[in-house]
Amino acid sequence: MTKIVGVSFGTKNGNNDTICKAVLLAAQNQGCEVEFIRAMDLDIKHCTGCITCVKMLMSGTKNMCVHKDDFDWLAFEMFHADGVVMVDPIFETGASGLFHTIMDRFGPRMDTGNNFIATQIAQGRLAQGGDAARGVAVPAPAIMSPKAVSYIGIGGSDWGTHVQSEQPAPGHDSQLAGHRQRVGPLVQDRPHGRRPDRPRHADRREPGRRGKEDPGERRRGRRPLLNLKETAIRHAASAGRAYEECRFVVCHIGGGISVSAHDRGRMVDGADIVGGEGPMAPTRCGALPVAEVLDYLDAGHATADVRRMCMKTGGFVDLLGTSDALEVSRRAEAGDEACRRAWDAMVYQICKEIGAMAAALGGNVDGILLGGGMVHNKGLVCAIEERCGWIAPVFAYPGEFELEAMAAGARRVLDGDEEPLRYTGKSVFDGFACFEG
Ligand SMILES: Cc1cc2nc3c(=O)[nH]c(=O)nc-3n(C[C@H](O)[C@H](O)[C@H](O)COP(=O)(O)O)c2cc1C
Repeated sequence: MTKIVGVSFGTKNGNNDTICKAVLLAAQNQGCEVEFIRAMDLDIKHCTGCITCVKMLMSGTKNMCVHKDDFDWLAFEMFHADGVVMVDPIFETGASGLFHTIMDRFGPRMDTGNNFIATQIAQGRLAQGGDAARGVAVPAPAIMSPKAVSYIGIGGSDWGTHVQSEQPAPGHDSQLAGHRQRVGPLVQDRPHGRRPDRPRHADRREPGRRGKEDPGERRRGRRPLLNLKETAIRHAASAGRAYEECRFVVCHIGGGISVSAHDRGRMVDGADIVGGEGPMAPTRCGALPVAEVLDYLDAGHATADVRRMCMKTGGFVDLLGTSDALEVSRRAEAGDEACRRAWDAMVYQICKEIGAMAAALGGNVDGILLGGGMVHNKGLVCAIEERCGWIAPVFAYPGEFELEAMAAGARRVLDGDEEPLRYTGKSVFDGFACFEG
């Protein structure tokens, strides 16, 4: 099988990682084996110019460097791949320092001409035998075999990534200003792999869902669209099926918690988690009885307090003084009763929402997919499986794929699988007139 190695020189989950992973994903979709390497995770020392490597190579002995670090491992992975993709941030109008360091380490010691001559020297010494053959090492042929290498340089002079449009990005959500979810509806919220008639996240409401037909009661669906969609698309692909033919309950379990229903390529239901719906989460209070909120306000609290509880200071922060879910789960396991109660309440509320979304899908659920940072916690996954496993099989996708989702969307457009739409500046809550075309 063809193997492609992608090496990203950017920060963890940054732009370079994202583009590198998008390339590898495309290669994987074409049947290649792929490997992702983040150069910054490796211990790579600078070449000091001691030329020990060249002296040894030219004497027919081992091709080695005095440094003991991860370079030889990296070189091995690259030499044994059929193709290599290097994705490097532009620093001061050129390649990054780390890229230069690695380039130097590939210097004379890996030079094809030097290795060709060294091979002849080594073979000559082996032919002589006896003392002449002692310590001889013939260079690995892989060093000299030609390879396709592609370089992608990513600059970002203003330190950001933008969706280009004459219009401002959707203004409905000042609380998400600056958050990449804000561009989510623009790039991701539509059917996968084909041209949509309308954008996707709430366009086919189930009967009884409040919608645009109820003036003043338009339903918002603020939730991590990118990660929810990408998790569903990835799971369908890994099961060898199209997202457009599956029904999933997809959860994002991170600082906020979203549970959503996906019906054959469309997200048809889910809470407005920015507005205070959904389960309690590390930083969010989750759904509350309206009358209790009114009592709280009558008692002299400001509406700003309630808003903060919806987004920042509710949930674990309010109850336990921390938003660190890992810490809460550890303290719960160690016998801290307050943590145990808060943790169990959160898990219970997630499961209840999963049940609600399963009902929204009429009970036809192909899988319950769990994404987000908290899904690294195996105890959480088991607890959800225990309570909801009867609905459908549970699959864990720990972490977030938001940037990858945006890159994958851009790639579908570049590949011609999807036509881009132009954002017009109109609200997505206004009949989806926000997209042209
Ligand atoms: C020291 C430094 C120098 C940079 N110089 C340039 C530059 O000359 N041109 C440019 O377009 N971007 C420049 N950038 C922006 C980086 O290219 C951008 O932050 C990087 O691609 C982000 O990658 P990441 O998200 O994968 O970490 C520079 C960034 C740093 C830290």
